[in-house]
Amino acid sequence: MPVCTIALAELQGGGPTSAEQARAWCSRLEAGEILYFPETPVPIAADDLRFLLGQRQTGSALHKNIAYKPAIDTLSGFDAKTSDTAEVEQLRAVMRRYSSGVVAFLLAPYEQRWLLDYASFRPLEEQGRDLALRKRNDLLHTDAFPTRPTRGRRILRFFHNIHPTRTRDWVVGEPFARVVGTFAPGVLAIPRADTPVAGAGKRLAQAVGLAGLVPQWKRTPYDQFMMELHNAMKENADFQRDCAKESVQFLPGSSWMVYTETVPHAVLAGQYALEQTFLVDHAAMVTPESAPVAILEKMAGAKLV
Ligand SMILES: [Fe+2]
Repeated sequence: MPVCTIALAELQGGGPTSAEQARAWCSRLEAGEILYFPETPVPIAADDLRFLLGQRQTGSALHKNIAYKPAIDTLSGFDAKTSDTAEVEQLRAVMRRYSSGVVAFLLAPYEQRWLLDYASFRPLEEQGRDLALRKRNDLLHTDAFPTRPTRGRRILRFFHNIHPTRTRDWVVGEPFARVVGTFAPGVLAIPRADTPVAGAGKRLAQAVGLAGLVPQWKRTPYDQFMMELHNAMKENADFQRDCAKESVQFLPGSSWMVYTETVPHAVLAGQYALEQTFLVDHAAMVTPESAPVAILEKMAGAKLV
């Protein structure tokens, strides 16, 4: 049974060369393919790369996985008290350059119809990490953010394996429509728009007295289902063992783009990666019928956002 297709052949030369090609790439991404660039189209300056790979030494506060929030130009994920300010400033500048490079590359059909989400620097070895089950990256899953509901927007991620010699090793699963059918409606119910949804964002908004003023923090029935699907996949040992899957090795220096809320994926091994996340509007889709919100609303016979 075929699983996720890796679009390889035409991606040797950087970005799309025409509007038609950009639309074709979007449509392949939206259908669940991984756009793979054996040589990244967003190269990192040699000094920046040296700095990032230099974070391996013990004692640096920046050796953990770190998030960069482009909207407020801020880093998080390290112990600020023990960190060297100059080092933090340098990482912030490197991440700012990386993030804007990826933004400049984003495919033309999506222009202006996305939210720029976090970027991340992932210097940790993925193999053998000791994480709670729902946080494990080595179990096949589709992405959903517990504190950042997308409200139907799609999660598009651009990765770069910056390790000088090692591949980043993933496993990918079957297309979303097929995978979701193994969980819903049997194992998971698809909540309806009229069902109250108590999400973390809603509780947070209520706690700070902003409920009703910040609807973007609320988890919609769509977000609720996607979070439950993420958890159900990781918690189901039979699914992890028996589902159709395929190994993918991303070369040193390569990049790839993928809608990670629909392509089931797991990271088995690899160290040093950069990643930038976009939340793309459903209305920007070249093939809106292939979006998970469209698939789920069809299954539920109801609006979910
Ligand atoms: Fe993931």
